[in-house]
Amino acid sequence: MSQPPCRSPQIIETPDGSRTAHSPRFGEAYGSRHGAHTQARHVFLEGTRTHQHPAPRVLEIGFGLGVNFRATLTDAAARNVRLDYVAYEFDPAPANWLREVSEGQVGAEHPAWRQLLNRWPHAPLHIEAENVRLTVHFTDVLTADLPQHWATALYLDGFSPTRNPEVWTPEFVARLSGTLAPGGVLATYSAAGHVRRALAAAGLTVERRLGAPGKRECLRAVRDGRSLSP
Ligand SMILES: C[S@@+](CC[C@H](N)C(=O)[O-])C[C@H]1O[C@@H](n2cnc3c(N)ncnc32)[C@H](O)[C@@H]1O
Repeated sequence: MSQPPCRSPQIIETPDGSRTAHSPRFGEAYGSRHGAHTQARHVFLEGTRTHQHPAPRVLEIGFGLGVNFRATLTDAAARNVRLDYVAYEFDPAPANWLREVSEGQVGAEHPAWRQLLNRWPHAPLHIEAENVRLTVHFTDVLTADLPQHWATALYLDGFSPTRNPEVWTPEFVARLSGTLAPGGVLATYSAAGHVRRALAAAGLTVERRLGAPGKRECLRAVRDGRSLSP
């Protein structure tokens, strides 16, 4: 009989068969305990309509365990479209967590992910493999120079507003809005009133969506008023 894999105690199995991990620094899981991959697909990939974009350019705050990246990578590879992905991460998780969370999961065999595991977390982390270009900036996004009018999708995934309020302030959200290309879409799992107001104050058209399992609602916010409903 085969032995169950021996994993770090921080690793969490989630009901959809994917994994996440508990962050001791923030006292919160990196992804949804109700389904980490399901959240990545529903809130971020589909929330930004990246799964329909012919050449997505994704900006992510923060990279974490790369669950969102693998979901996006897998979708782009299946559709045979080019993917440009730029992420910020100021506290890289241990490489073995990324390995343990991704083992046997979607995207784990893609050459871009395999290269990432070999190099993580050595800067500069710039990977080009097949149709994928990934850059991870190991820096605090609050003080980083952000690309302007570039992103077709922005994944705002920097832990919850309660645990990490700095990435949810109206000032920072206004800076994030400036990274979106016309028609670009920001997605996040938080539907808190102050987050909705910050997004609207930044000039984005905010839509509430059904949340991923375990959450009633999540948000998308579109640049230049082009509503994506229903
Ligand atoms: C909820 S986790 C992200 C999960 C990730 N998107 C995934 O798919 O696995 C939040 C991440 O944001 C990072 N983070 C939080 N504040 C940040 C900041 N100011 N600058 C850069 N990274 C930040 C944290 O270190 C953490 O790895």
